[in-house]
Amino acid sequence: MSDKTVHSDSAFMARRDAARDRIDALTGAKGGAADDRLAWFHTVYREAGGDPAAVPWADLAPKQAIVDWLAENPGNGKRAIDIGCGLGDNAEALAAAGYKTEAFDLSEDAILWAQKRFPDSFVSYRAADLFQLPSEWLAAFDLVQECYTIQALDGDLRTKAIEVMAGLVAPGGQLLLINRSQDETGAAKGPPWPMKPSEWQRFETFGLTMVREEFYEIERPGRIIPHVRAVFFRKW
Ligand SMILES: C[S@@+](CC[C@H](N)C(=O)[O-])C[C@H]1O[C@@H](n2cnc3c(N)ncnc32)[C@H](O)[C@@H]1O
Repeated sequence: MSDKTVHSDSAFMARRDAARDRIDALTGAKGGAADDRLAWFHTVYREAGGDPAAVPWADLAPKQAIVDWLAENPGNGKRAIDIGCGLGDNAEALAAAGYKTEAFDLSEDAILWAQKRFPDSFVSYRAADLFQLPSEWLAAFDLVQECYTIQALDGDLRTKAIEVMAGLVAPGGQLLLINRSQDETGAAKGPPWPMKPSEWQRFETFGLTMVREEFYEIERPGRIIPHVRAVFFRKW
């Protein structure tokens, strides 16, 4: 799977590199206390001043791994949710593939920004904290889409995130997971913290069954980044 996005725009990437030094110096940038980490996401969006180059994960395009999967798995009106939707590109891809899509992010600024980018969107965007979700979302979605949020969390937040995400999948529904990966012995320094197989296998302890697991790489200047795309199913 290849992706040509902002990463081939040298001016954009120069601004991103400049922003990274400032962002990395903020409290919570390297993980640590849960409140600091969550506050860090708010700060990144707020201080970006409307420049997506200052949001390190903003590709301004849906992830190719999602687009490819959606081509084989159209929504036909089924209900989907995009977790940690950021500036909205993946959520828009879900809606374009025929899913009745809801999308949320911790950051109100991110949500307003996504709505501004996609004024005619069919996606229902809202600010919400993964760890304090509306109870009506429990077991409510035919497709739960998680891309790069788990790898952005560490410690208890990460452990809890897997349980909460699994709880959103309706009987007969699926969870699509896309994250950086490393093998069980890996010790990659985060953030982001690549997932290990034992971590994504934990979805199975919350009633899901893994039905697909694929590994792929994304090339960036001077490095190759291993990824996993896994699909889980809830029978009941
Ligand atoms: C690395 S970004 C990934 C964004 C997007 N999913 C993508 O693929 O580009 C992680 C996102 O998760 C959001 N996030 C982090 N903690 C969250 C929480 N507790 N509840 C909801 N969103 C959260 C962040 O604000 C950020 O937008």
